[in-house]
Amino acid sequence: MPRRIPTSSASTPERRLFLPLPGNETLAARLAEQSGGSMGVLEVRRFPDGESYVRIHSDVADAEVVAVCTLARPDEKILPLLFTAAAARTAGAARVRLVAPYLAYMRQDAVFHAGEALSAATFAGLVSDSFDDLVTVDPHLHRIHDLGDIYRCRTRVLQAAPLLAEWVTTHVEKPLLVGPDEESEQWVAEIAARAGAPHVVFAKVRHGDHDVRMTLPALERWRGLQPVLADDIISSGGTICEAAAALAERGFAKPWAIAVHALYDDAAAMKLTHATAGVATTDTVPHPSNAMSTAPLLAATLDGPINVSCGRTAGV
Ligand code: R5P
Repeated sequence: MPRRIPTSSASTPERRLFLPLPGNETLAARLAEQSGGSMGVLEVRRFPDGESYVRIHSDVADAEVVAVCTLARPDEKILPLLFTAAAARTAGAARVRLVAPYLAYMRQDAVFHAGEALSAATFAGLVSDSFDDLVTVDPHLHRIHDLGDIYRCRTRVLQAAPLLAEWVTTHVEKPLLVGPDEESEQWVAEIAARAGAPHVVFAKVRHGDHDVRMTLPALERWRGLQPVLADDIISSGGTICEAAAALAERGFAKPWAIAVHALYDDAAAMKLTHATAGVATTDTVPHPSNAMSTAPLLAATLDGPINVSCGRTAGV
């Protein structure tokens, strides 16, 4: 039987202590400032043989511990993160929570070919066994519709659509929101509605990690509008670049690209610079393209109710 953590019986610890995993110090400090907690000291380093050493240098006894760790490039982060949770419990923490603005492995949400790992479920099991609850932003819920389908710990899903819509409203005149694939419709439709703009969605077929092709709906009636491509994730940049090329073929201006999670590297950034008018992302993953902060949303959520399971519709 999966372990379920009761939603209401836990008493509220008096102290909240944030422990940032390496690279998450700025976000953790903002959360501590905005949600009324303090910063703890966490040491994470490698032994000469490459194994991870983790030590909490703060008193966490009876405290609510909030580990802060965005999970882009998760393989190098997950063991130190799980060790941190275990160390906090060993040292007597009353509650061990995780703020992971980007949640990894959500795109490995099906066995597409015999023998493949269902990584989303295995990863969820590891996190659920270590943390009492998880707060995240726009996980890639596609074939899995609700984090509670794979996460046994309590979860809270925040949505970045209001931030993205505000960015569009502030920066783009006469926008046409464009979803590069059917999966993006859930984000694009909401951003468009909030920005008071029309939207269209392309169909994408992926032939490999870096090879995607698009088919487009009729676009003539939207000529003259400024396209804004919106997606949850930019990784190789292939999806955005292919969609931008398809728009160019139809005579549209270079599109802006907006996304929640910026996972792309410098090589992809070069391609995106040529293909788009610019890229704006939220700070769920620290990146030069970050233009919107999720810290206020995350901080506000830490004091709110955390559901046993919660899909996209139950988020903020
Ligand atoms: C697809 O499942 C996602 O919503 C994104 O469209 C995709 O992850 C983008 O990846 P890339 O930048 O590598 O094309």
